[in-house]
Amino acid sequence: MVATAPGDGQRENPDRKMTDRPRPPLRRTRIDHGFAGEKAAPPAGQNVSCANDVLNSPGNPVTQCTDMKEAAPRTIRLSDYQPPSHLVQKVRLTFDLREDGARVSSWLQVRKNPAFAGEADQWFLYGEELDLQWLAVDGRRLQASDYRLEEGGLRLLDLPQTFEFSSEVLIAPHENTALEGLYRSGGMFCTQCEAEGFRKITWYPDRPDVMAPFEVRIEAEQARYPVLLSNGNPGASGDLPQGRHFAEWHDPFPKPSYLFALVAGDLRFIERDYSTASGRPVRLRIYVEPENIDRCDYAMDSLVRAMRWDEEKYGREYDLDVFNIVAVNDFNMGAMENKGLNVFNSKFILASAATATDHDFQGIEGVVAHEYFHNWTGNRITCRDWFQLSLKEGLTVYRDQEFSADMGSRGVKRIDDVRLLRAHQFAEDAGPMAHPVRPDSYIEINNFYTVTVYEKGAEVVRMQARLLGPEAFRRGMDLYFERHDGQAVTTEDFVACMQAASGRDLSRFRHWYDYAGTPQLQVSDAYDGDRREYRLSVRQAVPDTPGQSDKPAYLIPFALGLLDSRGADMDLKLPGIEAREGSLMLELRATEQTFLFEGVAEKPVPSLLRGFSAPVKVDYAWSDEQLLHLMAFDSDGFNRWDAGQTLLQRVILRLVDAFRAGSGLSVPHSLIDAIRTIVCDRDGESALAAELLTLPGMGYLGDFMPVVDIEGLHAAREAVRHAVADALKADLVQRYGELQDEGPYQVDAEHIGRRRLRNTLLAYLASLADSETDQLVAGQYAAGHNMTDVMAALSLLAEGEHPQRAQALAGFEARWGRDALVMDKWFGVQASANRASVLHEVHALMQHPAFSLKNPNKVRALIGAFVNANPLHFHAADGSGYRFLADQVLALDPVNPQIAARLLRAMARWRRFDEGRQGLMREQFERVLQSEASKDVYEVAAKSLETA
Ligand code: BES
Ligand code: ZN
Repeated sequence: MVATAPGDGQRENPDRKMTDRPRPPLRRTRIDHGFAGEKAAPPAGQNVSCANDVLNSPGNPVTQCTDMKEAAPRTIRLSDYQPPSHLVQKVRLTFDLREDGARVSSWLQVRKNPAFAGEADQWFLYGEELDLQWLAVDGRRLQASDYRLEEGGLRLLDLPQTFEFSSEVLIAPHENTALEGLYRSGGMFCTQCEAEGFRKITWYPDRPDVMAPFEVRIEAEQARYPVLLSNGNPGASGDLPQGRHFAEWHDPFPKPSYLFALVAGDLRFIERDYSTASGRPVRLRIYVEPENIDRCDYAMDSLVRAMRWDEEKYGREYDLDVFNIVAVNDFNMGAMENKGLNVFNSKFILASAATATDHDFQGIEGVVAHEYFHNWTGNRITCRDWFQLSLKEGLTVYRDQEFSADMGSRGVKRIDDVRLLRAHQFAEDAGPMAHPVRPDSYIEINNFYTVTVYEKGAEVVRMQARLLGPEAFRRGMDLYFERHDGQAVTTEDFVACMQAASGRDLSRFRHWYDYAGTPQLQVSDAYDGDRREYRLSVRQAVPDTPGQSDKPAYLIPFALGLLDSRGADMDLKLPGIEAREGSLMLELRATEQTFLFEGVAEKPVPSLLRGFSAPVKVDYAWSDEQLLHLMAFDSDGFNRWDAGQTLLQRVILRLVDAFRAGSGLSVPHSLIDAIRTIVCDRDGESALAAELLTLPGMGYLGDFMPVVDIEGLHAAREAVRHAVADALKADLVQRYGELQDEGPYQVDAEHIGRRRLRNTLLAYLASLADSETDQLVAGQYAAGHNMTDVMAALSLLAEGEHPQRAQALAGFEARWGRDALVMDKWFGVQASANRASVLHEVHALMQHPAFSLKNPNKVRALIGAFVNANPLHFHAADGSGYRFLADQVLALDPVNPQIAARLLRAMARWRRFDEGRQGLMREQFERVLQSEASKDVYEVAAKSLETA
């Protein structure tokens, strides 16, 4: 991940500071004002103020209480959900943007929520780090006795049934390094409000079930900020005295505050006119810094493809006159779906053949589509509370996965998605941070944007699509859009639509949302040749996870085929189930189930969980021959790949044992032969061949070991790579040569696939490290055809002691030193390189002028790559990697707690390692817990140690 030069916008301003006030200095210290039990009790906020310290005169700072006591941060629970006491009918905001701060005036039209059971003479509004100027109800300035400042916000007292609330605050975007709320990135102002950042902008019922139309006015200096953007459609704009100007925006669609956005800066745009299926004209714009204007076309093309696709597949059209995207360099996440004004990490907008890899292009297409799709799944229909996050994220990931599958290679997309799920989500689900797709509690919601909520959440939607079939699933989606447009709803509401549209009982299916842990399917079979009967038994079990045990049986879609000895699909007959193209969709719903197939002429090879029909682990006693058979013949492409991965996994795990025993590492001939077949196959899809040739990752493999043995795994994987290269060198070199791209760089499935295969072959060859293969790598680097091939070569050069290493890295730096996104690649290859001195090098790179702890892309590129993509050295037995991680987390936490907490997760599965490493990791967690950690970091550390 990447961003441009981390402009921190902290220029000294000689003028009097607009926000010259004490900043809340306390982090870990918390007070309990005894909210629990009060009506509309807010979750604990991080910054604290005392009612008596604040007078309602302008400029009077919100100061800290002195009577604080240490306490663990509060846990927020789904079971405590209460509807909001008040609804907001209209919002008017005015932003006066200055170099030394921003003045935010707010006017809200408010009424009691008829659905709220209690009295509503009080109203709690969230607010953090706000310098209160004044408050008014129905135009009357409030006195100290009219409200109370409480932990994380403000409580208005003695309210009428309906009223207008107005207020003014000062905030300090130039001091905001957490990148949440209103902040500065380079020379611009921008916002990030999801999940709870709006409360750092103004007083507000900052919860997703309060939806309102917004009118926004922005005032700023014309020369520095010619572009002023917010949500919705543009309204009036014009000049103001003293070189300033203003712009107004109206968003007619009621939205929760987390979808609010504002951007002000000196930006250029590219523009496209789009006409929706029903003929509504929409003006699409992508805004970037001037120097990036020629790198936006792929993002714009992706947006147009996504808009068409949503019309064709779901009948969903865009609903405003304009759709704006802004790329910013400092961004915690990938991108954000603010209504009508998506804000993107520049990494997911900017691309050219010279600067971006195929992977980057695919990322742009997927993320642009994802944020666009949120307009219906997230914005028009949003989440009732943050426990429902997967309602929008899981569903929208499912939609973007399907979109990418339609744009490129469906088979490859599925494999990539499952690889990601198995590597990261299965690991999360088996560790101390395991949580259901719909969590039931959290300390810091920012810690719950997880692979479980996103990727497992997408699988949960995919399973419903599979169980219902395409027509009923579409009817269910139509019903969801019709029934809940304009509402804030729950995952139950979603499943209820699927149930209503299909007439099926999905109550057992709901367990997928409510329980954590990866279900395990124990499969056994028996063939009776005399009776020509084949019996298949499946036992399901879900492991215990923190706070959950004895889980019920789920409804699991289990797609299956049976192969005969020639590799063909057998004809399958089971009463009540129709086979489609040789596959049956079985439905598991009991702890143990047996299926009896009749008229089976020979003992079949079962092809289980075709297409990965459910996010489960399958345990079946394959023989190597059966796996080779599936790998060669299965009509299901996913299972051909999966059989190959299982075979590779077995070989690697056997080699680890051999490595431990000190015996020689030899790779079976049958595997080499199977790999030769793939390498020499000139008819198949290149990208699928590349997938088959890619070894299972260290993280995934480690899960099959009682104690993760990093050195053993590394040695075994390298041994396989080397043995294959050694045995097949001539074939690999030949095929590598054939796959050379002629003609210009093209980003389509076929060309991407060829490059991927070619670079996979090169990686095998590089493991030989002889003069010929060294030259191939150096030659590809020097040819510099496109960034995909350049980076593939550079990452091989950066490993070990390639003779061209130093020169290549220096040349790259000289060429790209001023391009932040490209420099992130340069940081990344060095941090993930397998070299004894890598940690030393990472330390040195942290001093590089292009590095900054304040820029999340930089942190991910360098520190993130070392801790997540360099397992061998991160897990160094002396604990140096762990100490380094804790050092960085402690340094980063005061700057950006979200990014710090994410980094710390690299140690979450510490119990999976040997005792020595466990002790070393525990020590670092304890060190972190002894610091004044943020809620974000505290939650990860405490839950990892299972003390939360
Ligand atoms: N809504 C999120 C972005 C977000 C998450 C902002 C958490 C603030 C806090 C957005 O829709 C999203 O999910 N983005 C993903 C990329 C997507 C393709 C999965 C991201 O940013 O990683
Ligand atoms: Zn999303």
